[in-house]
Amino acid sequence: MSEPKLFADPARFAGIAERHGTPVYVYDEDRIRARCRRLKHAFNGLPVRLLYAVKANDNPHILGMIREEGFGFDTVSFEEALLGMAMGQAPEAIYYTENNMTDAEMDAAMEAGVYLNIGSYPRLEAFCRAGGRSCSIRVNPAIGDGHHAKVDTGNRDSKFGIRLDLIPQAVEMAKAHGVRINGLHLHIGSGIRQPDNLIAAMRTLMMVGDALPDLQHMNFGGGFPIPYLEGEEEFSIEEFAAKATSILAHRALTYYFEPGRWIVAPAGVLLTRVNTVKDQGRITFLGTDTGFNHLLRPALYEAWHEVRNISRPGEAATQTYTIAGNICETGDILAEDRLLPETESGDLLALCDTGAYGMTMASHYNRRPLPAEVLLREDGREDVIRPRKTAMQTITEYLNETGTTS
Ligand code: LLP
Repeated sequence: MSEPKLFADPARFAGIAERHGTPVYVYDEDRIRARCRRLKHAFNGLPVRLLYAVKANDNPHILGMIREEGFGFDTVSFEEALLGMAMGQAPEAIYYTENNMTDAEMDAAMEAGVYLNIGSYPRLEAFCRAGGRSCSIRVNPAIGDGHHAKVDTGNRDSKFGIRLDLIPQAVEMAKAHGVRINGLHLHIGSGIRQPDNLIAAMRTLMMVGDALPDLQHMNFGGGFPIPYLEGEEEFSIEEFAAKATSILAHRALTYYFEPGRWIVAPAGVLLTRVNTVKDQGRITFLGTDTGFNHLLRPALYEAWHEVRNISRPGEAATQTYTIAGNICETGDILAEDRLLPETESGDLLALCDTGAYGMTMASHYNRRPLPAEVLLREDGREDVIRPRKTAMQTITEYLNETGTTS
């Protein structure tokens, strides 16, 4: 059984919106920690180490909590690695999966002692020439998956990883430079639909690894899905761990997973207020004070997020609405054709399961400020973990940054 979509009662959310304004991302500490523990528990007794994919939600307060739960960090840019270190994470517990990195970024990462996972032959050569000692390589297993074509990273035509047939050559080249390939990595995609694809890719990586006696670990990436639709069957992390056990028994190594979405997505909602109810003939729009600048997933991936009218708990859903944002683009639609109680201007909506890839993908498009972020603490406190900026603050900062303040 999956958890209820809302982690607090409507009155609590309404109070948060009153106190902190909208749009606001609200996260739940209890749920984040519980999900971290459930993951650890599922892999209990196995030689598994968990790295949290920082890109899913990189609010430092959330990173701190997840680090406390014993997770390392999976990072995909030098900036994320720096953030991880600033959060007190040991550099060697930071796995930096590069993707078209620059020489300067490589040098800085090597200098800092961050562990590098290299995803192309030319970058591996550069690492060898720069005096690298050991690293992991990212393999393109030619098996992909994901909730949308744009997040399928393992297929052979994706830009990620070193081609399977190039791996022996890459390993030889590294060896000739005295560089130890002590890790192998793959990440087949995000929001995996068929867990068996991940199992198959893991087997592929095992086969690649059989030719590498120096190997210390394998990293199978992230991608564990969550049920966005109400009633959708939940991916069972416990069943997956049970299936993976026989593979992990193949060789005495450390095995990493890099979940992001699975931990934080269900632990966040975006609260937004309806300001316009507009009958456009065939479609009735609920116009809100947020948009794809704050939650890009529906526009970019046609992603589904449950919508709840927080102001009308218990009222029957009798009307069909399309929820629109306030960005000046036709594609700025957050949810289409949703059955909701009759909704009025001033009502509060919750966009559910937005704790992952919500705020981290937000932008200032149309020069809008970002939403505030609030964290519900285990002890009942309500912490603002990123305050809202006023419209004028946003503009003043912009003028300062661009050197155009008069
Ligand atoms: N490891 C690597 C190397 C990754 O590239 C990713 C995600 C993860 C781990 C974590 O994947 P997760 O467990 O969260 O599925 N913006 C998209 C998702 C992009 C994910 C990119 N890589 C979305 O909103 O669906």
